[in-house]
Amino acid sequence: MKKLQFPKNFLWGSATSAHQVEGGTNNQWTQWEKDNAQRLADEAKTKWQPWQQEHFPEMFEKENYISGSACDHYNRYEQDFDLAKQLGQNAHRFSIEWSRIEPEEGKFDEKEIEHYRRVLRALRERGIEPFVTLWHWTEPVWFNEKGGWTNKKSAEYFSRFVEKVVGQYKDLVKFWVVINEANVGIGYGYLLGSQPPAKKGLVNFYKAYFNLLSAFKQSNSVIRKINDKAEIGIANSITHYETKIFPGLNYLIVKFIEFFSEYFLRATIPYCTFVGCNYYSRYVISLNKGVVSEKSKTDLGWEIYPKGLYLVLKKLKKYNLPVYITENGLADTKDEKRKEFVVEHLKWMHRAIEEGADVRGYFHWSLLDNFEFPQVRGFWPRFGLVEIDFKTQQRKIRSSTHEYATICKNNALDVE
Ligand code: FCB
Repeated sequence: MKKLQFPKNFLWGSATSAHQVEGGTNNQWTQWEKDNAQRLADEAKTKWQPWQQEHFPEMFEKENYISGSACDHYNRYEQDFDLAKQLGQNAHRFSIEWSRIEPEEGKFDEKEIEHYRRVLRALRERGIEPFVTLWHWTEPVWFNEKGGWTNKKSAEYFSRFVEKVVGQYKDLVKFWVVINEANVGIGYGYLLGSQPPAKKGLVNFYKAYFNLLSAFKQSNSVIRKINDKAEIGIANSITHYETKIFPGLNYLIVKFIEFFSEYFLRATIPYCTFVGCNYYSRYVISLNKGVVSEKSKTDLGWEIYPKGLYLVLKKLKKYNLPVYITENGLADTKDEKRKEFVVEHLKWMHRAIEEGADVRGYFHWSLLDNFEFPQVRGFWPRFGLVEIDFKTQQRKIRSSTHEYATICKNNALDVE
């Protein structure tokens, strides 16, 4: 038996986002979900593989696509943080819902500001370091009525919200994750239009992408002015790409893809004090469809490829900043693959650290089963360390989670 020790003061936690867990939100997704739920249920037949349709019949139900009460985390956060503490976690990533704080343009809701103050205190009281995301794809309805991120003034609107929030919680929060997965959120929301605000088109995408980039820059100055010791970063979806098309050209193709997919990250690096990395799988570009074995795929069909975490960490070294794994996890309803998934990813993360990667924390996605966001997949994919019965709101720690808890508590991983 060998012990893989992680660095001193390493942060171990899990992540959520407001709309996915809180319940009762009123943002640009809320009405869209109601208007599109039936269509999404009807499309499940063509969208998902037969084995997925067979195992997850919930995907044919309209309710699957309506976030509704979600996990009722808005009311049950203390209970949920008790579980996180019990599981040995000393950090937690979550998002503050802009539509609660500023439901009407320029009018801030003091009751909601107090709510998140209680949330932050509840974490601090449990010795859990908060990582606060400021944009995890949701916005107030008024913001979208003005065109969302295509509006020239969108960056200004967002940084006004950021100023309010950071000013209020400056004593309680050190780590700000200003933006979550710009490429994915703006790509699906504006380029493909497959999720709200569904403003499909290249021009919309271009405007939204660069307005979000200026929103980040403006927010950065706002945060710096309020607290020059704040840690600032964004969570980037970082995939390991492999190309198997033309020998000789493969390297160039990967570089080309990476140039575009890391554009936002590169542009924000000079302002960041850390890099947030969301890693889920690798992406193989090949002429013949590679078949992923049953054993190594998640309920969403994503390939489980732990070495990819090591490879992306090596890739991130060029930015010369501390890295936090802000998301990593899998949809696994039966809880058959989660334990090995966690152990294997952490082994590769440890190896990257040994070889010089400055990784300072790991957040598993997710603490709770939740409303699965990208492209509105809904409730059927189960990512939680804690299982939720969405009818009764009962929480149950999944059995694989005890392994992760042991690693968190020991700050080490025992391997054969
Ligand atoms: C990421 C999102 C996150 C979650 C995971 C599975 O793209 O940031 O909210 O839905 O995927």
